[in-house]
Amino acid sequence: MEKDPDNKDYHLQIWEKEYNQRKNLPSTKTDFPSRALRNFLEEIDPQNREIAVDIGSGNGRNSIYLAQQGYKSVIGYEFVENAVNLAIQKTKDLELDSRVKFYNQSVGENLEIADNSVDLVIDMMVMHSLTKEEREVLTRTVQRILNTGGYFVFYTIAAESEAAKDLMQKNVGPEENSYRFKVEDDWITEKAFTKDELISMFPQLKMVKIEDREEFTPAFGDVYKRLYYYGVFRKPN
Ligand SMILES: C[S@@+](CC[C@H](N)C(=O)[O-])C[C@H]1O[C@@H](n2cnc3c(N)ncnc32)[C@H](O)[C@@H]1O
Repeated sequence: MEKDPDNKDYHLQIWEKEYNQRKNLPSTKTDFPSRALRNFLEEIDPQNREIAVDIGSGNGRNSIYLAQQGYKSVIGYEFVENAVNLAIQKTKDLELDSRVKFYNQSVGENLEIADNSVDLVIDMMVMHSLTKEEREVLTRTVQRILNTGGYFVFYTIAAESEAAKDLMQKNVGPEENSYRFKVEDDWITEKAFTKDELISMFPQLKMVKIEDREEFTPAFGDVYKRLYYYGVFRKPN
């Protein structure tokens, strides 16, 4: 490994390649919103739909969906500039640009959002690709910006996943339950989570639910059977 695979610029370069060349991941290719997010809105049916924040908003599909589901203001943060530009263009085409804003910023840095001001924060498959330091910043941000009664909804990789265990055995990563795998010449690092770990990462939030989801994910020219966690946490009154 000639390059430091835990370097933030290296992570950015890999994600830039994903959007500009590889287009390997399902989330890069679809405008259809994440199932976990659709499930949350159907099952929980949150009443307060003023402000939502989309962590690692990618091509904007989930932010746009939230606006279409009645959130008055949605803010997406994404560190790949091309993805942000694509998402902004979509909001213009759909005439949602006054309500949905995208910022080209890393979620591993503090976000300029007031304390206790957001009704919903979503993280659809982002936490697992952050460094430990970035994730610590993110978990503080989520807990700080949520309103009392506000929800945090996530979808992430389960440490119990056979595929994750297999990858850990082959190439262990820098943290517990993390691993690395190679795509072309790049080393990708991911971290999987246990339920207890997810709960302990957000001490100011109460768990509403964490559910297992088994999926066959097409990516990098193969199909991966993996276990994911869909979680809903809430900031108590
Ligand atoms: C698997 S994709 C999911 C995208 C989006 N949440 C969705 O469901 O369509 C992960 C996204 O997180 C973004 N990302 C990774 N690390 C980031 C960081 N430190 N700051 C902001 N975005 C990041 C990637 O560029 C990518 O768009």
